Amino acid sequence: MLSDGHKPRRWYSGIRFRVTLTASLVVALTLLASGITLVMLLQQSLIASLDAVATDRAQTVASLAVTGDLGPTVTNTGSESSLVQVVDASNDVVAATSNIDGQEPILAQPPSASETTVLSLDRLSAGDGPFRVVAVPVQLPTGSGWVYVATSTIQVDSAVGNLAALFGIGLPLVLVIVVGAVWRAVGQVIRPVDAIRRRASVIGGEDLSQRVPVPDSSDEIASLAVTMNEMLERLEGAALRQRQFVGDASHELRSPLAALQVQVEVALAHPEDPGSALILGNVHGQVVRMSALIDDLLFLARSVEGAPRGSTGLVDLDDLVLSELHRLRELGGPAVELDGVRAARVEGSERDLARLLRNLGDNARDHARSLVSIRLTTTEKSAEISVTDDGDGIRPEDRDRVFERFTRLDDARSRTDLGGGAGVGLSIVRQIVQDHHGTVSIEDRSDSQAGAVFLVRLPLALNGGPSRS
Ligand SMILES: Nc1ncnc2c1ncn2[C@@H]1O[C@H](COP(=O)(O)OP(=O)(O)OP(=O)(O)O)[C@@H](O)[C@H]1O
Ligand SMILES: [Mg+2]
Repeated sequence: MLSDGHKPRRWYSGIRFRVTLTASLVVALTLLASGITLVMLLQQSLIASLDAVATDRAQTVASLAVTGDLGPTVTNTGSESSLVQVVDASNDVVAATSNIDGQEPILAQPPSASETTVLSLDRLSAGDGPFRVVAVPVQLPTGSGWVYVATSTIQVDSAVGNLAALFGIGLPLVLVIVVGAVWRAVGQVIRPVDAIRRRASVIGGEDLSQRVPVPDSSDEIASLAVTMNEMLERLEGAALRQRQFVGDASHELRSPLAALQVQVEVALAHPEDPGSALILGNVHGQVVRMSALIDDLLFLARSVEGAPRGSTGLVDLDDLVLSELHRLRELGGPAVELDGVRAARVEGSERDLARLLRNLGDNARDHARSLVSIRLTTTEKSAEISVTDDGDGIRPEDRDRVFERFTRLDDARSRTDLGGGAGVGLSIVRQIVQDHHGTVSIEDRSDSQAGAVFLVRLPLALNGGPSRS
């Protein structure tokens, strides 16, 4: 079978197969080992009790033989079926039970050591073995001798054989049950995984609105599905923002390009017209504005993609504020005053922070009637930059909206038509402030005059070096 992905999945490489195989092997080995142990223990204990009974019997016969109370026939009591012989020093039978009467001695040679000896014999002339034989030395009235007691182990062997057969049948049966149960249980566990995989395989770059099924359990697989869905939600959001951005950006570039095209076509149609030089000047101005816009769009595109920012380091905000002040003054227009400046060092990108000041400065200059003022103060932990103008200000209900991309307030749209901005300056400001872990807000003027106050707070650098004032 092919897994929809890449590597062909073989029948033996699935989790279900591997878990079942491992579980079955463990169960089979455990059952086999315990079965063998049990059978061996049973055999040993049965033989031991057989030997104990035989020894007992031999000693009883021996005690009779010592006193001379034993006739030539030893009687078996009850259900006893052991073969008993009493032999003299030359291994000649002097007494025996009827079941071995007239037969050869059980042992061809008495044991060498004169003590109770237990051994196994495969067969005896009195019957088929195997047998356990107990030899007990005895002092007969005629001299030394031995009592031999032989007991057949056929019953022991059959009991042991029965148990082994029981295991032989039971083990495969148990194994079949284990294989079935494990196969089923693992199947149940991995079924939701398969459902997740199948759904995930059809979720493509175009349609991220689908979600993987979350199983109705509170296990690891359910939390995996929840995490995957959260990831899909983030991906969908990012893709949506990306699409919106591309759409907005194309829209913003289309109108100035169309205007350019018309002007160039007019100039081309009338090359000799002295107005063509004027058109060329216009075209140049618009190209400059468009390339600034493209620059802004690229900056925003990087932030949409979450790309890493450029180089960072310690930045003296006071230096940046002073250069922005000079830049604005050189541009002319409304007066630009410095309302105070303190030494403030922050950590971040000097280029981006200069861009932040430039965007706020441009806006203030565009909207001021006669005066723009800039101030840099510090608190214990942060630097505060305020850029104030005496224009119409921004209504409280618009104060969040203006930080969105491509937002221009109504009266500003008419300015745009006259060559104003695209409405990205403040979204760039917000992005840069966020990158520097700061905040930006729009306030009312403290002197209740008309106008807007943009207040940026940035955390001071922790290792700002020796402070200057
Ligand atoms: N100081 C201000 N006073 C009044 N309105 C402002 C001020 N600054 C910004 N705005 C309003 O917020 C809108 C968004 O500002 P933003 O800087 O994002 O765009 P823009 O200045 O129009 O164009 P861009 O900065 O992209 O060239 C502006 O169009 C304007 O309507
Ligand atoms: Mg602007």
